[in-house]
Amino acid sequence: MLKGKKIILGVSGGIAAYKTVILARLLVKSGAEVQVIMTPNAKEFITPLTMSTITSKPVISDFFTANTGEWHSHVNLGLWADAMVVAPATASTIAKMAHGVADNMLITTYLSSKSPIFVAPAMDLDMMRHPTTVHNLELLKSYGNHVIEPTEGELASHLVGKGRMEEPENILKVLSDYFATTEDMAGRRVLITAGPTVENIDPVRFISNHSSGKMGYAIAEECANRGAEVTLVSGPVSLSTANERITVVPVTTAIEMHESVMARCEESDVVVLCAAVADYRAEQVCDKKMKRGSTNTLTIKLVENPDIAKAVGAKRHDGQILVGFALETDNEEEHARAKLEKKNLDMIVLNSLQDKGAGFGTDTNKVKILERNGAINAYECKSKKMVAKDIVDIVVNNYLKK
Ligand code: CTP
Repeated sequence: MLKGKKIILGVSGGIAAYKTVILARLLVKSGAEVQVIMTPNAKEFITPLTMSTITSKPVISDFFTANTGEWHSHVNLGLWADAMVVAPATASTIAKMAHGVADNMLITTYLSSKSPIFVAPAMDLDMMRHPTTVHNLELLKSYGNHVIEPTEGELASHLVGKGRMEEPENILKVLSDYFATTEDMAGRRVLITAGPTVENIDPVRFISNHSSGKMGYAIAEECANRGAEVTLVSGPVSLSTANERITVVPVTTAIEMHESVMARCEESDVVVLCAAVADYRAEQVCDKKMKRGSTNTLTIKLVENPDIAKAVGAKRHDGQILVGFALETDNEEEHARAKLEKKNLDMIVLNSLQDKGAGFGTDTNKVKILERNGAINAYECKSKKMVAKDIVDIVVNNYLKK
């Protein structure tokens, strides 16, 4: 599973670094290309020569090579990797990762990274259970990082408790399992709507909403990373994607989004309706800027936009999976289930504006996924990237594999 995968192995300064030598060896034996980055303190525990010999690549530790002035680009490294593993992750490195203290190559690369990140903590038991460390690890998880929990046993201090870095064989297994699922959407065609729609009133004013498109783009990335061919019909957002498996179809209005979706939904195996479509548009769009009138009120007549999800639901074909979204403020489950039925969907992702961290513009979301068969899957507040994984896991495991 790791053959050809590009892995950054970040090593920070803890005694467990000696086990990372074995991890590097196991990764290389599995066919991975491994680039080691060491913090200055890590070099006190194991030598760069050991790691560069095992991985057949010079270890990176400094921002540049002093005698040649060659700069090591953490940005390129972050883009290069299929995964980054920080093992051991000391309390200090975990804190720096959680708060963006970018004072060494490992942290700058972490902050530049687009790949999944795995963190294997190792420290003494009291440091491990200190509220600061507990909180920092929670923060890392909420940003979508995977924490490989340390195990219990005798520690370097000879105290016994939780804080031993997970064994290299088990870290390797976590990575192999992660990559094993990544092609489970191969050959599937996925159509996704994302972002807001913008309905003009005149050349200057419009009706729209606060949707950032982050959730839809995260789902598109997740599906593409798992092998799907994705078409992303996107309203105006400030996001972009470099993923070769994603074709972005930019649209502005609900009418344009409706047309683009109807032209493509027939050929799609999965349709995810994530856009915040304006329900109404101005009946008349003035071609000149509207002037302030003589009265102190103004009425703009609005007419209904097409319900894209309902239209897709009405012409769905056998085996096609339809996923909708609902953002509710009251009687959430009841309203979401009514939408699922009305629009003929298989599942609907409910976010409540009452939940902290959920909704527009945020990087996190707290959702429940309601299925047609009555099942309700409730999740903690997570990064939108991880929410996207939960949604796609349900699509794959409960529908595509059946
Ligand atoms: N939707 C759509 N086209 C519309 C309106 C909504 O495709 N014109 C989709 C959304 O992308 C979402 C689902 O329908 O997947 C529910 O959207 P929501 O705005 O919550 O539902 P509405 O039917 O518009 O209900 P209301 O605004 O009255 O709550």
